[in-house]
Amino acid sequence: DWTMQNLIDESVAALRAQVGEKRVLVALSGGVDSSVAAALVHRAIGSQLTAVFVDHGLLRKGESDAVMENLGGQLGIDVHRVDASSRFLGKLAGVTEPEKKRKIIGEEFIRVFEAESERLGPFEFLVQGTLYTDIVESGTKTAATIKSHHNVGGLPEDVNFSIIEPLKALFKDEVRRLGEELGLPSELVWRQPFPGPGLAIRVIGEVTEDKLQIVRESDYILRDEIAKAELTREIWQYFTVLTSNQTVGVMGDERTYAHTLAIRAVVSQEGMTADFARVPYDVLARISTRVVNEVDGINRVVYDITSKPPATIEWE
Ligand code: XMP
Repeated sequence: DWTMQNLIDESVAALRAQVGEKRVLVALSGGVDSSVAAALVHRAIGSQLTAVFVDHGLLRKGESDAVMENLGGQLGIDVHRVDASSRFLGKLAGVTEPEKKRKIIGEEFIRVFEAESERLGPFEFLVQGTLYTDIVESGTKTAATIKSHHNVGGLPEDVNFSIIEPLKALFKDEVRRLGEELGLPSELVWRQPFPGPGLAIRVIGEVTEDKLQIVRESDYILRDEIAKAELTREIWQYFTVLTSNQTVGVMGDERTYAHTLAIRAVVSQEGMTADFARVPYDVLARISTRVVNEVDGINRVVYDITSKPPATIEWE
């Protein structure tokens, strides 16, 4: 891709001129934007870049290792993973209110990131994966007032880094193509949006490791069946939600009393509005059968048929 190669050459030259011999820090989230930003800066300055990956234990199955493999192993970026899952779970213990959960995760994320960057520093520059749309929308966005958004784009404000935003002139689809050109795998580059607070907002009410396990395993089955049905590009976002509702069921001759799992799948342009995806009944049936058979703690599966508005995409 000639345009992308051109863009890479120009960005590399600009980054080298800006950074010189200094050290640069980036926060990885597993998401597209921070990964592509890191890959681009690494192309320009190599070992002068250090990446910190705060693993809050709220990612999907396999995602944390994929970050290490793709960015550390394949691209050779110096990635420092901090396993902070027990720390996050500890802070979330007993907390049921969605906004409180979001705030705790956002604050804890910054704390862990700062501690690790102090340990590895000093750094002169901080890379942020800000896109053109983030800049344009930030003045008008109402979504942020409905839910307090957390993502690595909103990292420390009070530190004395100079900020580098190598993607700030690009739209999302350009970022994806750039990522592919830089050698990132297409599963990563084309992945669906994933919220900063991760699976914690897909467990309704209190978050525990057992509940996270249910969401992780059921999400994995859902993703597998959506991929087999070749629907991944048609559906904007698809995930499972562990409700706090328990109902009666029957398994063999036994009465069960277990949780209800909801499936959320939506079509959307940019996430501001959405409609539930018309996933074929046969696909839904396979998902439901597999979830109740393979995931402990679920005896009922329901499909969310609400649009946004009035519902939001995520349940919390
Ligand atoms: P809602 O639930 O508000 O979600 O309809 C709209 C889109 O935003 C994603 N989302 C987030 N993304 N940090 C993020 O980076 C967050 O805290 C966050 N909360 C929701 C959601 O997955 C959907 O794509």
